Amino acid sequence: MKNEKRLVMALIVLIVMFLTLLGASGDFENATPPQTTEEESVPLDEDLIVVGFSQLGSESVWRATHTESIQNALSKEHGFFLQYSNARQKQENQIKAIRGFISQRVDYIVFAPFMEEGWETVLMEAKNAGIPVILVDRKIAGSEDLYTTFIGSDMEAEGRKAGEWLEAEESRNPLNGDESLNIVMLTGPVGSTSQIGRSKGFLEVARKHPNWKILAQESGDFTVVKGKETMEKLLRQHEDIDVVVSQNDEMTFGAMEAISEAGLTTGIYGKMKIISFDGVKDALELVDNGKINCDVECNPLQGELLAEVIQRLEVGKTVEKEYFVDELVFTKENVRDYLNDRVY
Ligand code: AHR
Repeated sequence: MKNEKRLVMALIVLIVMFLTLLGASGDFENATPPQTTEEESVPLDEDLIVVGFSQLGSESVWRATHTESIQNALSKEHGFFLQYSNARQKQENQIKAIRGFISQRVDYIVFAPFMEEGWETVLMEAKNAGIPVILVDRKIAGSEDLYTTFIGSDMEAEGRKAGEWLEAEESRNPLNGDESLNIVMLTGPVGSTSQIGRSKGFLEVARKHPNWKILAQESGDFTVVKGKETMEKLLRQHEDIDVVVSQNDEMTFGAMEAISEAGLTTGIYGKMKIISFDGVKDALELVDNGKINCDVECNPLQGELLAEVIQRLEVGKTVEKEYFVDELVFTKENVRDYLNDRVY
């Protein structure tokens, strides 16, 4: 009897164990997954689109605004993780930064090329690594296969607008009649898209006017200091300058200092006509008070369009090969309509 009882007890224990095991295995598929540990949890940044951005430098207000526009648009709040690198006007620094982005395997490389030439090798490396490259602000020479798209200004159109403004101004109010119109050009760094395009566009119009005499084309590196230095040199070399075409506002500020120190005047009431590029607020003030005759806009607010283009690429949509930003021409006649809203 004792043995029978033991046998029944053993059987009950076995049945309970069996049912427990069965229950556990039956529940497995619907079981709540184990909580992930700290190390296993997915880092937030992996949800973000990683972009390496190589800016060419910080030579101007325009450039600072351009950088800020891209940093604001490619922020974490908008779904991006931005790696920013400033090349300080050195192409080799940009090449180094791009190589760094390739080895980090970023999702996209964005860069504003300092010069047009010299990118084939590094962009081929990006292509082989399967990383799309987006050019902003300036372009590169060579094959279009090396980049996905370009977002920026039509620099040649900007140069043409400057020429056409002078053409219209001369037909309204010819400075020297049929005599020569003496022009000096302060250019951006030679070999950059802004210098190549703006010079090409302006000279295209100039060629139509046999009396327009281009006395000099000298780089002022897009800076106030070099702009002033170059203008001082040009004033020493040429006595009768009628028009200064200065390819950015920084150089214009420097050149105007040199002109005023030489005892000369500029603008609609002065001796020399000044044509500038960019349209930053300080320059627009000078257009308003008549010291600069014409300022051709170069629009640095490219960040939002860039973010949109990347989002399109992310979902596999097609993108254009180039996107040009909208740009105006400012003169005394229209500048008041824009001055108050100018934030840079
Ligand atoms: O490439 C754009 C030019 O570069 C802007 O005109 C100038 O101000 C900047 O530094």
